[in-house]
Amino acid sequence: MSSHTEAGIVDSWVRNADPWVTAVRSGEIASRVLATNQAVVDAVRAYAPRTGVDLGCGEGWLVRALPELDMVGVDAIPGLVETARAAGGGEFRLLSYEQIAAGLLDLSVDLAVCNFSLIGNESVDGLFRAAPSYLRRGGIMVVQTVHPLMACGDAPYVDGWREGSWAGFSSGFADAPPWYFRTLSSWIALFATNGLRLLEMREPLHPHTGKPASLILVGQLPE
Ligand SMILES: C[S@@+](CC[C@H](N)C(=O)[O-])C[C@H]1O[C@@H](n2cnc3c(N)ncnc32)[C@H](O)[C@@H]1O
Repeated sequence: MSSHTEAGIVDSWVRNADPWVTAVRSGEIASRVLATNQAVVDAVRAYAPRTGVDLGCGEGWLVRALPELDMVGVDAIPGLVETARAAGGGEFRLLSYEQIAAGLLDLSVDLAVCNFSLIGNESVDGLFRAAPSYLRRGGIMVVQTVHPLMACGDAPYVDGWREGSWAGFSSGFADAPPWYFRTLSSWIALFATNGLRLLEMREPLHPHTGKPASLILVGQLPE
């Protein structure tokens, strides 16, 4: 099931690239506009990196939001990488996490950031295992993801594949990608088992509900 499911994530993003670009660029996702975009920018800037890589960069907004960094954006979806290149602000490469796990992202940057882009299971493990191939020694990994307590819903609070949903998105979206739910302790373990020391966690709040809008984890490779 898992290889089928990992492939299903990429297939879905190919299908939904155009509505995704529209949603991000027109501010359709309220929680991003109200909380999570600024939260991830602040988390990156707190470590004052000079170079960075945005893993699963989509249409590239985060690279453009950090003009002081020399940045590379990476994504598996050709339509998203082309759209990112057209807007500029950095270098954009067409690579999947599986290719990165195989060593094809040869960088030595100060910081890697994953903004709501860690969706699968094995693909994410591989991406983390490969961190020393794109992060320098002492490099920082910043992950923003759905908050497990908010995203769990009625299902049991255990790791596992979940059906995707585009509820709340425009009618242009179809065939939501499956995603792999991780508990808070599993997110922490993902960092620890890959040699990344957890430096901090942030829980940005949604200003209207007072509930967590996301979870941000920051880890560091050994010096
Ligand atoms: C929710 S979007 C987030 C995009 C961007 N980080 C942002 O904040 O707008 C998830 C992104 O992860 C990318 N992604 C998911 N699985 C991937 C994989 N195995 N390899 C490369 N990119 C992947 C998708 O193509 C998509 O652009």
